Amino acid sequence: MKHHAHATRLALAIAAIFATPLAAAPAPRDAAVRYDTAAHVFRLDAGKVTYAMGVDPDGKLQTLYWGARLAKDDPLGPAMPAPERSSFDPKGALSRQEYAGWGGNITAMPALKVKLDDGNRDLILRYDSYRIDHGALDIVLSDKQAGVDVTLHYTADDATGVIGRSAHIENKGKQPLTIDSAAAATWSLPSGSDYSLRYLTGTWAGEWHLQTRAITPGATVLESRRGSTGDENNPWFAINRGGAWNEAQGDVWFGALAWSGSWSIRVDEDILGQVRVTGGYNPFDFGYRLKPGESLDTPVFYGGYTGDGMGEASRLLHRFERSRILPGGDNAKLRPVLYNSWEATEFKVDEAGQIKLAERAAKLGVERFVVDDGWFGARNNDHAGLGDWTVNRTKFPNGLKPLIDKVHGLGMSFGLWVEPEMVNPDSDLYRAHPDWVLNFPDRQRSEGRNQLVLNLAREDVKAHVFEVLDKLLAENDIQFLKWDYNRNWSEPGWPQMAPDEQQKVYVAYTQSLYDILRRLRAKHPGVEIESCSGGGARVDLGVMALTDEVWPSDNTDASDRLAIQDGFSQAYTPAAMMAWVTASPSWANKRALSLDFRFLSAMQGGLGIGANLLEWTDADNATARHYIAEYKAIRATVQRGDLYRLLSPQQRAPWSATNSVSADRKQAVLFAFQRDGEEGRAFPTLRPQGLDANARYRIRYIHGAGAPGTPDAASGAYWMEHGLDLQIKGDFDAAGVVFEQR
Ligand code: GLA
Repeated sequence: MKHHAHATRLALAIAAIFATPLAAAPAPRDAAVRYDTAAHVFRLDAGKVTYAMGVDPDGKLQTLYWGARLAKDDPLGPAMPAPERSSFDPKGALSRQEYAGWGGNITAMPALKVKLDDGNRDLILRYDSYRIDHGALDIVLSDKQAGVDVTLHYTADDATGVIGRSAHIENKGKQPLTIDSAAAATWSLPSGSDYSLRYLTGTWAGEWHLQTRAITPGATVLESRRGSTGDENNPWFAINRGGAWNEAQGDVWFGALAWSGSWSIRVDEDILGQVRVTGGYNPFDFGYRLKPGESLDTPVFYGGYTGDGMGEASRLLHRFERSRILPGGDNAKLRPVLYNSWEATEFKVDEAGQIKLAERAAKLGVERFVVDDGWFGARNNDHAGLGDWTVNRTKFPNGLKPLIDKVHGLGMSFGLWVEPEMVNPDSDLYRAHPDWVLNFPDRQRSEGRNQLVLNLAREDVKAHVFEVLDKLLAENDIQFLKWDYNRNWSEPGWPQMAPDEQQKVYVAYTQSLYDILRRLRAKHPGVEIESCSGGGARVDLGVMALTDEVWPSDNTDASDRLAIQDGFSQAYTPAAMMAWVTASPSWANKRALSLDFRFLSAMQGGLGIGANLLEWTDADNATARHYIAEYKAIRATVQRGDLYRLLSPQQRAPWSATNSVSADRKQAVLFAFQRDGEEGRAFPTLRPQGLDANARYRIRYIHGAGAPGTPDAASGAYWMEHGLDLQIKGDFDAAGVVFEQR
């Protein structure tokens, strides 16, 4: 942190900033950060959002407002402490602090709790100074006596109104301390409303279930104690005012935490009816030592608001992820049509077999060929080989080169599966370095899928993992890695460290993972990476900043997948969501589905094929060629357009429908699915959204047909208001429609 000017000293400079009309500022965006010295109020304006906080007479920084954008000169503040209710709820105890230390009479959930080595655990963070730099705001809070400084960092994205918050915690004192818990941020919602919460739950092959519950006095904790993001909960939330969830209307506050280690997001409603969302490192088993001069950075907790319902909340997040999180931003490449061998061959990969699949895939229009698990070490099943990232010479006698050359010759890029953070005890790596895994000495090492977790927090392990992958990418002409991670942590000891330093593993491991990804990307800029974790157990804004796509679930049944994809889309953009067409009946549930249904379902994300193409008939191949060609014509709209959820497939609903609209609104694509055609009931009239009401759109069916009398062309208004009736009948029928401006 460079010079933090004190408020008083800066008064003149600030007056100068106010004197400059914002409209005259050279930057094209009009996100603004302002400080009102008189009222002691900080204010961020971005997109359709205003966020304000102020310093109360006791020096505490309090949230004043988060919601729809206000007029520039609207009065906000001054901040005042929460009033006394009784001796049990004294003045200030429940103040809406931006980032509260645990100390004084506070009874609200604190953001930071520390313990000094002399036993003192009292931390009162008061305003110290601020700095505005390139549209970002830093506010320093300090407890001088305890010797703790916290710099709160704020960014605001004008395109979406999404605000990023994180904290830098520094030990400025003379004695070591331990951080017991550290949040990235506390978000306070306007008081006194009837709120409800949405969040995501899941399990392997059943991720992304959307849950809704009323927010009542008490706490709801969403979390992972697994060492990684996990799929039990995902680090995302949405809160609706009024409790009636609607895709198109209503106030929604939402947020997502950019962290791939153990995390927690806690939603509290206190006795004053105030709702706070506190998220960051999971306090469970946390303990981070800071010697004098040392510091800890929290992850970033992003938050947004819209008055236009849940659909808009998702679209804002999608846009934010596409332009601000995912590598490449607005210039990122579209997801190529991919083939993956896993469901076709499992561990039985070899040169001849993969070449046969590649030849078939190329003929269908596939653009990327990926060899999944089984190509390395003694990997004939999941009992051995992880950690030994050298080509299995029985399966590939001449190395990977002949296959890679063949794949390139067929016009496709080449990708490979890796699971770099894991080791099978039955591997050369483990035999050489049994101390490299997370473990407590002389205790059991619990296995998951016969594997243990390498402790990336160790510098030697981190260096090894980087070198192995760097060599793999340097020696082979590879364009893509599917980066897998197939178990939770257990016995998370780091015995090489002093006992009181070992819990740093929760932070250091994930930082090492990010560091490895960052360095690999920098050194091999042509390589794209997918984050996979036995399906969707590592999807978050932290890993997405360093990977190009994610794998939402191992469940590839196209009907189950509708709900999985719908849940995913609440928080994450289809631009990163891979979806494969696989065999029917599905391994997941024995359900048989037409190839049409399977393609249309997968075309809602980044299209891939995971079926055994040697079993496909000429008719199947012709069907696949049709859909792949259609997909290429609409994928920019699907991946980078605005998504509207028309019929929700959650809770085993019989129907599902979405439409996506390109940014220029020249193209839209609609997908409709019927899972259950009971009693021959009519499929609902679909009213696509987001079209230009005044433009004329011609429609084309990728699959299916309109009801008799459906026009070929009509205005956007007609399609959005009159709607479209499709001929969808019986179980598992589906349709796809393209709207094109003419
Ligand atoms: C995990 C992944 C699958 C596949 C297997 C390979 O389960 O999610 O897609 O790669 O590992 O072992």
